[in-house]
Amino acid sequence: MEIINNKPIYGIGIESSCDETGIAISQNGNKILANPVYTQIDFHAQYGGVVPESASRLHLEKIAPMLQESFSTAGITPDQLSYVAVTVRPGLVGSLLVGYYTARALADFYEIPLIPIHHLEAHLYAIEIAGIPVQYPFLGLLLSGGNSAIYKVEGLSNITTMGDTLDDAAGEALDKAAALLNLSYPGGPVIEKLARSFANKGEEKFDVLREKGGVRNLARNPLPKILATQPSDKYEFSFSGIKTALYYLLEKKEKTYTPEHLAWAFQERVFEIVLRNVTNALTNKKFPRLVAAGGVLANQTLKKQLAEAAQKTNTEFISPPPELCTDNGAMIAALGFRYFQNGNFENLSQEVTSSKKWGV
Ligand code: KG4
Repeated sequence: MEIINNKPIYGIGIESSCDETGIAISQNGNKILANPVYTQIDFHAQYGGVVPESASRLHLEKIAPMLQESFSTAGITPDQLSYVAVTVRPGLVGSLLVGYYTARALADFYEIPLIPIHHLEAHLYAIEIAGIPVQYPFLGLLLSGGNSAIYKVEGLSNITTMGDTLDDAAGEALDKAAALLNLSYPGGPVIEKLARSFANKGEEKFDVLREKGGVRNLARNPLPKILATQPSDKYEFSFSGIKTALYYLLEKKEKTYTPEHLAWAFQERVFEIVLRNVTNALTNKKFPRLVAAGGVLANQTLKKQLAEAAQKTNTEFISPPPELCTDNGAMIAALGFRYFQNGNFENLSQEVTSSKKWGV
């Protein structure tokens, strides 16, 4: 399907896979006319993580008023829509169902196609909203609260997982580390802040270790490297061991390490495995570009390190701005537009599921 006579194609993107309700209305995919996002973070913070049952209820409360808000901000009416794109996987099933049935109602009533979207694929298309068209092939890196993986992306729905996490996700690990350090939720931003402050301290940060007779370079990061012996043609992640290591270090109640030092140490170990996997994948497979997305990419230290790693392998590094790295409806509408234009969405499964399997 093509844009006929330059007539704009309006689409709606609905996101409710976890703890953000997002409803975006776009024109031709990448021009966003409305993109309200309601985050439930403040509610879940009191429990230190997302409570699935409450998440669905909060989506249910918000979704109808947000629909109205989106149409009024965009200045269009629902009968002007050409497609409805909605996240159907992976995510919390109760939460996904709220978005799915809202989308189903719109699609059935206005007799327009419903395009089921894989949330993880959509994250990689958030760059289109920032004006950077997706070009294949590319190495996709996704680091969020629920996923940590790298992908070979060769086309729409043409994605191969090269490496995934064996246990926790990177964002989840940062959230759990923050909880162990008595820091607020979500952990990523607060750990980033403390880590930066530690890194900026210069030489004086080693004084405590010297006083205790510690060997500077060995004592610098007290946490173990992640998957230190993984061969260079494997790209898996694992974050639960380092969380346990932090737990035992804190149990010892050593005064040597300040919370700042431990935040920095934890973040460094998490990013080290990310950079090692990305560098190995770029070196072995020679992708022309690296697209990195997901909530953890809001981290400026990581972005800088990835840009440097990409430069060393002559790879173009692309990542959406921080506000588009986290969950939103705009990326769902953008990917939905791609499928709508290609016309290859009829066979996509509408099954609402927590599974992140590709090609269903
Ligand atoms: O993609 P996202 O918004 O949604 C979910 O997966 O739910 O990612 C959320 C994750 C959280 O774990 C949060 O701690 C992490 O992204 N995050 C960050 C930063 N901002 C958010 N991690 C590191 N540095 C940040 N600045």
